[in-house]
Amino acid sequence: MQAAPPNPPRALVTGATGLLGRRLVARLPDAVVLSRDPAKATASSPSAKAYAWSPEAGPPPAAALAEVEVVFHLAGEPLGDGRWTAEKKQRIRDSRVLGTRNLVAGLAGLERRPRVLVSASAVGYYGDRGDEELDEDSAAGCGFLAEVCAAWEREASAAEGLGMRVVRVRTGIVLSPEGGALAKLLGPFRLGLGGKLGSGGQWMSWIHIDDWIGILLHASREATVLGPINAVGPRPVSNAELTRTLGRVLRRPARLPIPGFALRAALGEMSELVTTSQRVLPKVAQRTGYEFEHTELEAALTTLLEPRGARPG
Ligand SMILES: NC(=O)c1ccc[n+]([C@@H]2O[C@H](COP(=O)([O-])OP(=O)(O)OC[C@H]3O[C@@H](n4cnc5c(N)ncnc54)[C@H](OP(=O)(O)O)[C@@H]3O)[C@@H](O)[C@H]2O)c1
Repeated sequence: MQAAPPNPPRALVTGATGLLGRRLVARLPDAVVLSRDPAKATASSPSAKAYAWSPEAGPPPAAALAEVEVVFHLAGEPLGDGRWTAEKKQRIRDSRVLGTRNLVAGLAGLERRPRVLVSASAVGYYGDRGDEELDEDSAAGCGFLAEVCAAWEREASAAEGLGMRVVRVRTGIVLSPEGGALAKLLGPFRLGLGGKLGSGGQWMSWIHIDDWIGILLHASREATVLGPINAVGPRPVSNAELTRTLGRVLRRPARLPIPGFALRAALGEMSELVTTSQRVLPKVAQRTGYEFEHTELEAALTTLLEPRGARPG
């Protein structure tokens, strides 16, 4: 018989009210959360202890970090809700770059520090790279998101100077029926209005939400994980394949392509999120022993989209 796993160390989560943070906190007994709105955080995660923190304003309260062993830092202005005006881009950057700087300043001021910082980043780090296979050793790319990710990661890496193990999680497209990219695609697809976006040749590096949580927990526990880790599944697909597969799983035709110029007209610069090509592989996760639950897109989408009552557990 296998021994029961030891209790996970006490964790603190920022961005805990978001799509990913809510699901992560549900897996962390006795978590502490930091939120701009602690009442909202308590409503979304009643078992967690919530403290107020506005990432751009200054360091978090030291009391929140007492007895914490692992910090998961996810906070950041959402990318996919509203056009990227100059003000929105400033919020996207400041919430991440200043927010992470302030978090690290708070960690620096502690007498007893957490051992590990697991800090969010995104595959946007690599920029638009066509068919090139990308792993954690690949160079950073160009463009707004690539520059934000590089600056965000630099701020997180500063915690290495405090003796902490720092992991920078370059997340791909997280598939969850509760929000994010998949939820946005579902509306038009269910109406039979789905289709490939732009050329359809761009690579999309997807990950099932359960594996995203699995990789974060793995990164927090596994001492050999340090520096960047790609949180993507092992089989990225083209946008055309994603479109065909989603159409098949939903049993809806997906024959209405949206040309690149229409995407740019509708979304402005934000169209970068769906037209950029990133063929990213999870080299560090696999090398350090993470075993994926979901490797095939069709099976992953099927588990996510089947009625809740039909899911085991
Ligand atoms: N979902 C994906 O597919 C994906 C892909 C790549 C990278 N990521 C990154 O992973 C992290 C978590 O993603 P998510 O999808 O869970 O994000 P989300 O749902 O947008 O939630 C982000 C959280 O950050 C806080 N926040 C929002 N705007 C902020 C601002 N202007 N200043 C400071 N804090 C702000 C909010 O927490 P409070 O209101 O409680 O303070 C919010 O709940 C983000 O940094 C995101 O960029 C996500």
